[in-house]
Amino acid sequence: MKLTSKEALKLIEKEQGKKQGNERWINHSICVGNAASVIAKALNLDEDFVKTLGYIHDIGKKFEYKEDGVFPHAIKGYEYIKSLGYDEVYAGICIKHSFLNNDIDCISNDRDETDKQNPNYEFVKEYIKKEYSVYEKIINLCDLMCTTKVLTVDKRMMDLLLRHGVFAKTHYHIEETMKLKKYFDNLLGYNLYDLFPEIKNNL
Ligand SMILES: [Fe+2]
Repeated sequence: MKLTSKEALKLIEKEQGKKQGNERWINHSICVGNAASVIAKALNLDEDFVKTLGYIHDIGKKFEYKEDGVFPHAIKGYEYIKSLGYDEVYAGICIKHSFLNNDIDCISNDRDETDKQNPNYEFVKEYIKKEYSVYEKIINLCDLMCTTKVLTVDKRMMDLLLRHGVFAKTHYHIEETMKLKKYFDNLLGYNLYDLFPEIKNNL
């Protein structure tokens, strides 16, 4: 079943006030979806589809999941979207957005090595090996440009480092983020930041 951005927005907005911290991921998701649609428009792609993916990418955060398996918000979001009967591509973004370069190790935070014993680890590792569509790549980039407002990737990286710390994979993750930004600069034929004049007010 297809999902539209209007329905996706309803899905996340109904979580408002239900759990502490929901406001942040909901507003972040709206920012990601809206920024993604700006890039899609500039590339003559399907704006509503990418906006939908942006709105739901973090929906797994609506669940309580402390100490609950590996990649909890990714897996819970994936299962939730599937349980509602939506197509695989909508569920898939809940997992795919967390990893760059089709690599389970290309993440912005840290992971306990014992996670490898969890069955979800192999599932996710294989799942993200599939080629990412341009839409999924836009979401990856916008997730790395948006807090609850659009930032440069540099500024967003600083936000992540200051909140979560520096880990063994941080250098690798930053390099891949920069490559992804460059990939879209090349596709557009100009600097992607030109699409977001508000960025300079958010520095
Ligand atoms: Fe996100």
